Amino acid sequence: MNAEAQKRAAAVRAVEFVRPGMRLGLGTGSTAKHFVELIGARVRGGLDIVAVPTSEATRAQAMHEGIPLTTLDETPALDLTVDGADEIGPDLVLTKGGGGALLREKIVAGASARMIVIADESKWVEALGRFPLPVEVAPFGAEATRRAVEKAVAAIQEPGRFSLRRAKDGHAFVTDGGHWIVDAALGRIDDPRAIAHALAAVPGVMEHGLFIDIAQIAIIGGQDGVRIVER
Ligand code: A5P
Repeated sequence: MNAEAQKRAAAVRAVEFVRPGMRLGLGTGSTAKHFVELIGARVRGGLDIVAVPTSEATRAQAMHEGIPLTTLDETPALDLTVDGADEIGPDLVLTKGGGGALLREKIVAGASARMIVIADESKWVEALGRFPLPVEVAPFGAEATRRAVEKAVAAIQEPGRFSLRRAKDGHAFVTDGGHWIVDAALGRIDDPRAIAHALAAVPGVMEHGLFIDIAQIAIIGGQDGVRIVER
């Protein structure tokens, strides 16, 4: 199975956790896209659910699929969110935000009774950090915030490289919330809780991509089939 087939297999398995009447959070990215597509097919077959998308891209896909949408203002408590991840580490601590949707993803997952992360096996890691950690920042004072982020991380571990994410046109990449992203290439994150705590305390940081104690279940598609890991 190639990576795409592994993502699809994980998404297919995640659909089995969905029950009629559920309020769902729909993740963002190439893996979550499979899940949204599969839920769309089920909805057209009569499944009664409502969903909150975690990005404008997912909103567009869900609308195209005919999935009934709601908001966290109308529906503040969700039953289940299914989303992808950039890395899945020990204790199902995740790195997310490679697609820039981390803020809404964390709000939606936080409003959900359960989060299931779906991924191909390349995302399963012994230690987080090879994938740069996305840190969403306010555009105002972004360079000062970038430096403060660097300093906060340096107090805990070897600092890495901290660069402002750019769009293809060379301008700052802008999130759905109108913020920018600093990608923190740390190499290895041995103490994600300490890093998360330090980043959350930096003024100008809107959110960071470490998802700790949020996902209860990981569904990993692999060469030899799908496996489920519970926290
Ligand atoms: C979006 O901002 C991210 O958090 C994605 O969930 C994450 O990057 C995984 O995306 P893929 O499924 O495309 O790898």
